[in-house]
Amino acid sequence: MTHAWWRDAVIYQVYPRSFADGNGDGVGDIAGIRARLDHLSGLGINAIWVSPWYPSPMADAGYDISDHRDVDPVFGTLADAQALIAEAHAVGIRVIVDVVPNHVSSAHPWFVKALADPAAPERELFWFRQGAEMPTGWRGEFGGATWTQVPDGAWYLHLFTPEQPDLNWAHPRVQAEFEDILRFWFDRGADGIRIDSAALLHKDPALPEIDPAQPHPFHDLDAVHDVYRSWRRVADEYGHRALIGEVWLPEPERFAAYLRPDELHAAFNFDFLGCAWAADAMRACIDRALAAHTGVGASATWVISNHDVTRPVTRYGRADTAFSFATKREGTPTDLELGTRRARAAALLTLSLPGAAYVYQGEELGLPEVENLPVEARQDPMWRRCGHGRDGCRVPLPWTGDRPPFGFGGEPWLPQPEGWKDLTVAAQTGDPHSMLELYRRTITARKVLRGPLRWLPTAPGTLAYARSDVAVVVNMSDAPVPLPEHDTRILASGPLDDGVLPPDTAVWLRLRAG
Ligand code: NOJ
Repeated sequence: MTHAWWRDAVIYQVYPRSFADGNGDGVGDIAGIRARLDHLSGLGINAIWVSPWYPSPMADAGYDISDHRDVDPVFGTLADAQALIAEAHAVGIRVIVDVVPNHVSSAHPWFVKALADPAAPERELFWFRQGAEMPTGWRGEFGGATWTQVPDGAWYLHLFTPEQPDLNWAHPRVQAEFEDILRFWFDRGADGIRIDSAALLHKDPALPEIDPAQPHPFHDLDAVHDVYRSWRRVADEYGHRALIGEVWLPEPERFAAYLRPDELHAAFNFDFLGCAWAADAMRACIDRALAAHTGVGASATWVISNHDVTRPVTRYGRADTAFSFATKREGTPTDLELGTRRARAAALLTLSLPGAAYVYQGEELGLPEVENLPVEARQDPMWRRCGHGRDGCRVPLPWTGDRPPFGFGGEPWLPQPEGWKDLTVAAQTGDPHSMLELYRRTITARKVLRGPLRWLPTAPGTLAYARSDVAVVVNMSDAPVPLPEHDTRILASGPLDDGVLPPDTAVWLRLRAG
């Protein structure tokens, strides 16, 4: 078996607390995923990436891990996780687990020991500094300060919440621990690892202030590449295991450096995720990604959504369709009908580009961002720290029925909108016009797309490219455009009038031979 499956897989992100609740406590769990595996195999996806299921105080929805080698009781047991891996494999679905190496939970035994005794060797595993003042004025990834003072007067670093102390990656124990964690999950059949905050691990020990004219003190330090070289050696011992980095870096060359042949296999394409619904910007973004990946022999990824960002149906319906955390436009007006039309076209785009495609749970249902969650229901620590949050894309999935909890399980940990009765899996199944059936058709049809992309001449405001004898045309302009000459139509994201492609619609066409 030499197939590098991650190069062209469709990878579905399961956010376990919101996927399906098997035990009726209102929080999704592994039993729920196992019970709904048929939905995933029916979609035709090749792999799932499961967001953290480990023991955690849930200060950041499980991205604050106190034990990477077990499962939190809210999600089930380690035996449940292993059963899920085996059952997924039995239906041809690979499983990617989420590993968070930048930080642990403040409830992790290392940090508990480090806090209990200033002389404990565990202090060296974190970033503790003495002093009357905070060691630096760095702002956290969620806003706010990045240092918290402990009772003995020392400060510790946390780039996220105070409940997520940063590890000291210069320490050999940290390195050894994570290699062992990789082996733990590979030994249990995991096919890949999604690496959280992959570019943040190393920090400049001099702790300088951030100065745009100087190298950044904690983003993308060169030393982080040594970590991934050693992880790659571990992955290679097992064969066909993929390392997939969460690397948010604006410069394509710095990004691609993580994908050199002896480092990670893939990384999320956030440039594409953030790109506005505009043909010129999109084409430039696709070219940038393909060039950067080709340079290192890696395969690109195409992502429009995940558990951290505004759902595409909502974002693409706004006046400004780009996404960035800095300009998160919570609650700005959106036209959901327009957003849905564009999200349908985006599915045909994302699933036809050369490389791997990601689908975030609920994207296949066309769920909008829930922007009117009552304040008391909000759980994301970002609300407190920077005034906006990510709960709106984490609302539990609607499966069946005409009222909440829509077959999810118990009373959902975040309330579902009543209007989701029309968006349930059951309501969409068999309706040829639904988002779900579009995703099923598109993922199934995707195997017709082979080989590299070549751009085709096209009208302004549209994208047109071919892969072997299949052309993809996406109309992002506000006027209809003629279709190129073709043999047959394979798929369309919406109705076509008389051989022309309406605005915000995409099509796959079989080109005429010769
Ligand atoms: C990125 C994860 O996707 C996000 O959900 C989390 O809050 C941060 N990393 C911190 O672990």
